[in-house]
Amino acid sequence: MRSTDQLAVMVPAGLAGVVVTETELGDVRGSEGFYHYRQYSAIDLAEAVGFEEAWHLLLHGNLPDAEQLVRFREKVGSLRPMPDGLAALLPAICATTDDALTIVRTALSLWGGIRRLRPLFDADPDEIAEAAMASAAVTPTILAAAHRIRQGQEPIEADPTLGHVDDYLRMLTGARPNAHDLRAVEQYLVSTMDHGFNASTFTARVIASTGADLAACLVGAIGSFSGPKHGGAPSRALQALDEIGSLDRAEAYVRDKIERGDRVMGFGHAVYRTKDPRSEMLRRTALGYDDPLVDLAVGVEAVFERTLAELKPGRELFANVEYYAGVVMKLAGIDPSMFTPTFCVARVAGWTANIVEQSRDPKMIRPSARYVGPPPPQPVPSLAARLA
Ligand SMILES: CC(C)(COP(=O)(O)OP(=O)(O)OC[C@H]1O[C@@H](n2cnc3c(N)ncnc32)[C@H](O)[C@@H]1OP(=O)(O)O)[C@@H](O)C(=O)NCCC(=O)NCCS
Repeated sequence: MRSTDQLAVMVPAGLAGVVVTETELGDVRGSEGFYHYRQYSAIDLAEAVGFEEAWHLLLHGNLPDAEQLVRFREKVGSLRPMPDGLAALLPAICATTDDALTIVRTALSLWGGIRRLRPLFDADPDEIAEAAMASAAVTPTILAAAHRIRQGQEPIEADPTLGHVDDYLRMLTGARPNAHDLRAVEQYLVSTMDHGFNASTFTARVIASTGADLAACLVGAIGSFSGPKHGGAPSRALQALDEIGSLDRAEAYVRDKIERGDRVMGFGHAVYRTKDPRSEMLRRTALGYDDPLVDLAVGVEAVFERTLAELKPGRELFANVEYYAGVVMKLAGIDPSMFTPTFCVARVAGWTANIVEQSRDPKMIRPSARYVGPPPPQPVPSLAARLA
């Protein structure tokens, strides 16, 4: 087969293992089961710091000192309320779909227009940093309001004096979370802010590399993230636990799935070939709840792991972040329809930090594909010949 360009190089399917750029934001070491934000283990951060601290680290490069943290929290709080124009349009968007990710994707596109975002190509660094923070700050407000509108309830306005996760849960459920639920969700959200060059981050950076505006990058990232193979698994993983119901049915369930060629949601990962450290941390978080769902999840995890090792030898399929994410979010009082959108509240901090970084790189990302159709050029058949 002749390449379309003699200089082209073939890379592994799915670009697995291909390094396409440099980043100071973090990385995933799949064989070690380790990932980090800048120079810190992301799991250590999730266990030690709050959402705004980790967000500051990703966006500005350092863990904030006390004064920086106060200023950052105030700034985030002031950017959390929805602009009036968007709040007025949200019910109309919600009338078109039940899916909160679709709603936020559309709403962020409108938000970019309302904020008069300029293309990254034209914007200066301060303007880009401001847009990055503002878009990530308003995302939970949009999502919580979308959820309430879909439930036939009035949206709750943001309270700029509260912590970001605290306020999200309040706007979502109508009540301040207790300290245990708040910490559980915050740990989950810190642990999922960023995760190497995953599909949605790559999407965001490809769009950023064209010089488009920041909202366009986020719309693309959310589209990529919405796929069940990426961010769309936590509610499906919890649904599987619901279907299984009791531990004695777990093995038959997984065998049946694999026989039918289906995937077990919440298992497997594109990069990890060992335990997903996020899932290990979230299991510990889940064990902080005294609930039969946790016992079921822990038992089913062991059965799935053993059975998948037998049925898919050499594939190293372990629980991924989404397996326990659903359990933790359910026990913290989040509706399953908001599991993936809640994941998005965290990941938007990572996407925007990546967009800011990409905006400094003048090179547009533009790979090639190997053409495998009929050899060109062929004569174009006349209409008469095509009708004959
Ligand atoms: C995340 C995921 C897309 C990564 O997949 P990947 O590393 O690109 O691996 P592939 O899609 O190439 O699959 C490789 C093999 O493992 C199998 N496999 C991967 N994940 C599996 C799963 N969850 N259940 C059953 N089999 C799985 C595939 O069927 C394939 O088997 P084969 O070689 O016999 O054909 C995949 O594991 C998956 O679909 N998981 C379920 C969805 C999920 O939980 N997503 C959240 C990710 S954080």
